[in-house]
Amino acid sequence: MTRKRTLATLAITLLPLGLLLAPGYAFAAETIPQPIQFSHKIHATDYKMSCRFCHSSTNKSQFANLPSVEKCMMCHRSIATDKPEVIKVAQYWTGKKPIPWNKVIDLPNHVYFPHKKMVNAGIACLTCHPGMDQAGTAVQKLEFGMGFCMDCHRKKKVSIDCWTCHY
Ligand code: HEC
Ligand code: HEC
Ligand code: HEC
Ligand code: HEC
Ligand code: HEC
Repeated sequence: MTRKRTLATLAITLLPLGLLLAPGYAFAAETIPQPIQFSHKIHATDYKMSCRFCHSSTNKSQFANLPSVEKCMMCHRSIATDKPEVIKVAQYWTGKKPIPWNKVIDLPNHVYFPHKKMVNAGIACLTCHPGMDQAGTAVQKLEFGMGFCMDCHRKKKVSIDCWTCHY
């Protein structure tokens, strides 16, 4: 009951926002500063690493993950060890500290997004994270507004009941 009432209140305050949800989803994405200049283009495109090699839980869990420093060190014990940004990676490793990456995407807490269900339904990473294969520091170019989710669910005949996506 309380959940329902909260959502209804929100819906009323957000009616004008509906205009923003349709029809385009692209928005002026900002680049979030990161502790290390990691390039998706070098790893995913130039060296053809699979997205899932690093983001290995995307098809197994409700949450996508970032790779551990250990995964980076599989290669960077021996590759490009003289580059300043790679030296920083090695310092986190010897210091036994995780790299404090800043979050790029953050859905509001009332939204339920089981990452693995959409990946296992065969939807390509780049459908929702376009341009990531060409990115320097990660940038999210699509806004995950409600309209974006709803349009695809309608097309694919997936539930659009409010409680499918809201706690
Ligand atoms: C070599 C490992 C590696 C590969 C391969 C890789 N990524 Fe990443 N990814 C990272 C790291 C490290 C970060 C955190 C740094 C950043 O945000 O730039 C990241 C960040 C991201 C983020 C933003 C996460 C957030 O903070 O919200 C997304 C989305 C993403 N990657 C998607 C992809 C996609 C799609 C591919 C394939 C085209 C891919 N990644 C390939 C390592 C990798
Ligand atoms: C499968 C092997 C592999 C893994 C795993 C890997 N890298 Fe790399 N990385 C490379 C290669 C190859 C290059 C290109 C080296 C060159 O240009 O000399 C590179 C380049 C880099 C560079 C240097 C870019 C520049 O030109 O200054 C950084 C920084 C870097 N990687 C960070 C990371 C981080 C952080 C991770 C873990 C999230 C990671 N790498 C995981 C293979 C890997
Ligand atoms: C249907 C759209 C969709 C698809 C397909 C998709 N993602 Fe995501 N991804 C999202 C959304 C939405 C979020 C934000 C989830 C959240 O904040 O709870 C996200 C979050 C992420 C994150 C951030 C994790 C973190 O810790 O912040 C990474 C990394 C990521 N996705 C990688 C991938 C990779 C790799 C693939 C392909 C294997 C993929 N995604 C496929 C929509 C998608
Ligand atoms: C490009 C298409 C696409 C987009 C975009 C998309 N979804 Fe989905 N979603 C699917 C498909 C297909 C399934 C069904 C997977 C299955 O049957 O296992 C699904 C399943 C789900 C489920 C599980 C439904 C159930 O009945 O178990 C939830 C929750 C969900 N999506 C939330 C979201 C949210 C939240 C967003 C936006 C941030 C979103 N989706 C964006 C295609 C999409
Ligand atoms: C397929 C997934 C999906 C379904 C179904 C869905 N929503 Fe949403 N909804 C979202 C996402 C994702 C957001 C967050 C949008 C954002 O951050 O801009 C959202 C945001 C909202 C908000 C705005 C709250 C805020 O400030 O972040 C309200 C209100 C809302 N939804 C109500 C509803 C109602 C009522 C229904 C049923 C008619 C519904 N939603 C069905 C995905 C969904």
